[in-house]
Amino acid sequence: MANMTLKKRPMDKKGYEERMEKSREQLARAAADPLRLRYHLQPPMGWLNDPNGLCQKDGVYHIYHQYVPFYPDLCSVFWGHVTTGDFIHYEAHEPAIFPDCAWDKNGAYSGSAFVEEGTMHIFYTGNVRHTDGDYDYITAGREQNTIGLTSEDGFHFTEKRLLMTNADYPSDVSLHVRDPQVFRENGRYYMIQGARDLKARGSVLLFESENLKDWTYKMRFHRQEAFGYMWECPNYLRIGEAQFLIACPQGIKAKGLDFAEANQCGYFPFRYDFGGTDYELGEFVQLDRGFDFYAPQVFRDESGRWILFGWMSTPDAQYESERTMENGWIHAMTVPRELYVNGKGRLCQRPVMELKRMRENERHAHIGAGEGFEEEIPVCFEAELTPDKPGEDFELLMRESAVLRYQDGILSLDMACCGDGRGARGVRLPRMEQVRVLSDTSSLEIFVNGGEEVFTTRIYDSMSGLRVRFASDGTGARMSVFDLVKR
Ligand code: FRU
Repeated sequence: MANMTLKKRPMDKKGYEERMEKSREQLARAAADPLRLRYHLQPPMGWLNDPNGLCQKDGVYHIYHQYVPFYPDLCSVFWGHVTTGDFIHYEAHEPAIFPDCAWDKNGAYSGSAFVEEGTMHIFYTGNVRHTDGDYDYITAGREQNTIGLTSEDGFHFTEKRLLMTNADYPSDVSLHVRDPQVFRENGRYYMIQGARDLKARGSVLLFESENLKDWTYKMRFHRQEAFGYMWECPNYLRIGEAQFLIACPQGIKAKGLDFAEANQCGYFPFRYDFGGTDYELGEFVQLDRGFDFYAPQVFRDESGRWILFGWMSTPDAQYESERTMENGWIHAMTVPRELYVNGKGRLCQRPVMELKRMRENERHAHIGAGEGFEEEIPVCFEAELTPDKPGEDFELLMRESAVLRYQDGILSLDMACCGDGRGARGVRLPRMEQVRVLSDTSSLEIFVNGGEEVFTTRIYDSMSGLRVRFASDGTGARMSVFDLVKR
């Protein structure tokens, strides 16, 4: 996305429709790409990034997302729109928000949906870049406007309404304030936004409102010592009594196995009563240990589940993630993951149960220590592995050359030659109890110990002659393998 900022230009619905007429070839090329994922949400063509406006209304899940439809031809980012009823079949619709007015002309940036009494209230950041001077775009030359609109059906929207501009944000923050999430606590409406302050510290700003239209700044959550210069895409959630603040801090330095990516993504255990100004931000916990995960958004569905989608990529990646670009599309979402809190108070992720409907051709085996196990598999598969002795070393080879290795208390994913530059990443794990792997044509998602740790990555292997192989001297394991078939 490096040079995108230079060329962001507005596009309205008419411009989109005209351009679409000329893009049939790109659309067909994308649809025919063998790397296209089979059960993940992905753009029909062009570029996708953050999930936006996640909600369920009248049974239907609405998933909006950052979208540059004609990428690599550049224009300002839109809100794409996808619906699903089962998290397996996704239907793409005409974009929901176009970057077509003075407040969002250089991008309808990320935001969220808040559904109340049948009305969807959408909040997002309108990005504006001034080009009439020599700006740093941190303290000058940028506008980040908070914009609101509503919808009764998820497809038709009211006029955009300008809710806040940089003048409404505290004076000691820079012009980087974005990605509003709105929720209700203690009978009041709250909005959080990610921010960079003038000392280059990331923080989350809290605003309150009585009517979802007039917003007042209340306070902020941050670390005294800078932990990254900017926190993007904040999400607040409360599961029972446990509160969490998710954020994507930028500019974190790698430390041992931790923070391998400069753009991080994780959560702070959080305590705040939405009354006074006292709060606690616990130690930051990474939400993912793989190569391709960023800007997740969470929402509560009509049955009360907390569900997360993440962008299955990362900004400024040091490795290739553009293999699909030859075929006119790039990036996808993770599978939807249900969030829950485990006995240790950790926020865990597991694929939503709907995905089990794809399981076919179920195989189970118990492998004794020193025996090994090998099975030919189709590219879309699910595997579950439970070692007999949680502390013993083992190796699980997946597909052509991705290796998940547990050795000396460290679980690592080594992409060897199928990662297009992705190497090895790991996490210290005192007990290795269980692994669940979901494979799609060009992705792997690995949920460890009930999703306490997750590795998400794109993968580019030949997709034929694939295997799953378990080898260990110290421990046997129970293994289940399923084909994943979308019907
Ligand atoms: C995160 C992000 C957001 C911003 C959006 C722009 O990936 O940078 O902070 O709203 O992407 O596409």
